[in-house]
Amino acid sequence: MPALPSTHNELDGAAQIGRGNGVPRHVAVIMDGNGRWATSRSLPRLAGHKAGVETVRQMVRAFAKRGISALTLFAFSTENWTRPESEIFELMRLLRFFIRSDLAELHASNVRIRIIGERDNLQPDLLALLEEAESTTSGNTGLNLVVAFNYGARQEIARSARKLAERVAAGEISPAEVTVESLEAGLDTADLPDPDLIIRTSGEQRISNFLLWQAAYAEFVFLPVLWPDFDEAALDLALQDFAQRKRRFGGL
Ligand code: FPP
Repeated sequence: MPALPSTHNELDGAAQIGRGNGVPRHVAVIMDGNGRWATSRSLPRLAGHKAGVETVRQMVRAFAKRGISALTLFAFSTENWTRPESEIFELMRLLRFFIRSDLAELHASNVRIRIIGERDNLQPDLLALLEEAESTTSGNTGLNLVVAFNYGARQEIARSARKLAERVAAGEISPAEVTVESLEAGLDTADLPDPDLIIRTSGEQRISNFLLWQAAYAEFVFLPVLWPDFDEAALDLALQDFAQRKRRFGGL
């Protein structure tokens, strides 16, 4: 599988106009509907999240098989802290479980794992595990699996702006050097291409503070399927829909 090109310029904007969409380079997924999947089966919500992890496992392989370079999964948002403590605990436990059980196989499959989001307030053992996943797979050149964990796009943009403000205050750069490029360079996704396609499952149609900056020219596909039921057929429907979109990136 080809490695990701190293700059945004190689990937977005005018370069893609008129080429037809083909397979998206970067797909981001809002994995919604675990709770409803469980409730509709009279199961506790945790069962829905567990089933959601199984879908994650299958989808990582399905995306890699289709030659998609980057897959970003919205696993836990900064707003998810308002959920009951027991559910938060279970979501953390499931992420730990996923990394512990799948890291070796993902590494063997040449998958590179990256984590985006705030790291400051994570439990030290979870943080260590996430960092181990990143460092173990940092040399891999296959699918980039980006896990958005404790992630909020507004917070990410504010963090980047704060870094620039600090540099301006220190006299390192001038206010004129606060640009689209310098702000983008401070985002968690700095060396990743913008998502071409954002899929949200469960029928909800909103972005929920996910990749707000990076989604400027993304195509959106909203599917009525709940995340635990998302499968290769649903993925192919989304990819077919994407392939037919006319992307103009603000041009004509
Ligand atoms: C949305 O469903 C889903 C989440 C908030 C968490 C998604 C997490 C996983 C699939 C598991 C951990 C992730 C990885 C990468 C191993 P919801 O609970 O909002 O569903 P509802 O809207 O039906 O209540």
